[in-house]
Amino acid sequence: MNKSLNTINDNMTPKIQHQYRDDFAVFSNKPDLVFLDSAASAQKPRIVMQAMLEMAENSYANVHRGQYGLSIDATNIYEQARQDMQGFINAKSKDEIIFTRNATESFNLLSHCLPHSLLKTGDEIAITRLEHHSNFVPWLRLKNAHPLHVIAPDANGNITEAQIEQLFAEHPIKLLSITHISNVCGTLLPIKRFAEIAHQHGAYILVDGAQAAPHVPLDMQDLDADFYILTGHKLYAPNAIAVLYGKYHLLETLPPFISGGGMVDRVTETEANFLPPPTRFEAGTPPIMEAAGLSAAIDYLNAIGMETIKNAEQKLTQILHDMLMQKPYIALVGNPEHRACVFGFNMQRKDGTLIAAHDVATLLDEQNIAVRAGHHCAQPLMNHFGINGCVRASLGIYNDENDIDRLSDGLDKIAKMLRAI
Ligand code: ALA
Repeated sequence: MNKSLNTINDNMTPKIQHQYRDDFAVFSNKPDLVFLDSAASAQKPRIVMQAMLEMAENSYANVHRGQYGLSIDATNIYEQARQDMQGFINAKSKDEIIFTRNATESFNLLSHCLPHSLLKTGDEIAITRLEHHSNFVPWLRLKNAHPLHVIAPDANGNITEAQIEQLFAEHPIKLLSITHISNVCGTLLPIKRFAEIAHQHGAYILVDGAQAAPHVPLDMQDLDADFYILTGHKLYAPNAIAVLYGKYHLLETLPPFISGGGMVDRVTETEANFLPPPTRFEAGTPPIMEAAGLSAAIDYLNAIGMETIKNAEQKLTQILHDMLMQKPYIALVGNPEHRACVFGFNMQRKDGTLIAAHDVATLLDEQNIAVRAGHHCAQPLMNHFGINGCVRASLGIYNDENDIDRLSDGLDKIAKMLRAI
C-alpha cells in the first residue's frame, strides 16, 4: 500500500499528493486520468480484483448447496464477507447483514416488505428533497396507503434538527427514510440525532448510506438506525453486491421480498416455510465472487483506517471547496454547513445564465477529467434549486491536490473559451 508522497509547492507548503493512487491499476494504465466521479462508482484496487480471480481459480462453486470441498470453501468466503461487513459497520450480529444486488434493490425490499409488517395502512412516511430517486420513487409508489412528506432543505442544502423535530411534532410519521450524505450537495446529516428524534416518536429510521460508507466510519450500534443501506461498488468493491442492514428483531418481522430457492425451509404443494433472516432475503444464487471482492475492499479500507480516510478527505474537501468558491463563474448547488467530498455546481456566464452541465463535462473529459453531469437521479432536488442539472465532482481515496489543480485549470480554460470570464 502506497502512503502519501508529499511534495513541496512554490509556497513551501506540502501538497497532498498521490495517496494510495498506485494501488489502483487504472491510474497506471491511464496516468493522465483525473477521476472525480467516485460518487457514481469508485475505482477498484488491484487487491479486490485479485481476490475475485483467486476465488474463481481456487474456491468457486455455488454456496449453501454443495457438500464438496469447493462449495464449502465458497460458502465460507461468502459468509466471511458478511462477517467482515458486520465488523465494518459494527452491527451487533452478522445476521443483520443482508446481501442484495444494489442499493436500489435494498430500498425496494423494504418498501415492499414494511407495509406487511411494521407499517400499517395510513402510517405516514417522510423523506427529504435531498434523496436519490432510489429513496424517493419506492415511497412515492406507496403514497396512497402511506401519505408521504418531503422535507425541503434550505438554499444551502442543509436540513436541521429543528425541521425534523417539527415534522414529528406535526405529523404521525412512522418511517423517516433519509440520506446520510447528499449525492448532489454533499450535505452530511446528523443521523444519530435524527434517529433519537424518530425513536422518541415511536418511528423507525432508514438511512441511505450509499454515499457515506466510503467516507465516514460507520457504527450501527452508536448510530442506532433501524435500517441502513450501502453499496459495494462505491466502496471500492465490485458491482452487484450491496447491503441492507437491519436490527434483527425488525428483520424477523418482515416477509420475504423475492422468493424461490435458498430461502425456504420446507415446501409442499400448498405452502412454503421461510428461513430466518438474512437467508429469507437472499433468494436465488447470490453475488458469490462479488462477496470475495467486498471482503478484500473492506480489508483494504480497514488497513488504511476509516478515520484516516475521513481526515484526509476532509482536508482535500476543504481545498476543493476553496478552489470552487474563488471562481466567480462557479455557482455551487448547495453549500452546506457540514459537507462531505461531493460537489454539485454549475458554470455561469457573465449575464448569469448557466452553461449546460453536459457541455462542461464533455469539455472536461477532453482534458482527461472525469466528472458526472445531469440530474444525478435527484430531480426533486434539481427543481428545488430551479435548475435542470449540474456538474458533479466527487473525491475518492486516490484523489490528491494535483487533481484539484487540474480541475481548476480545466474549468478556467472552459470559462475563457465560453466567455464566462
Ligand atoms: N447513485 C450514483 C450517483 O449519485 C449513481 O451518481
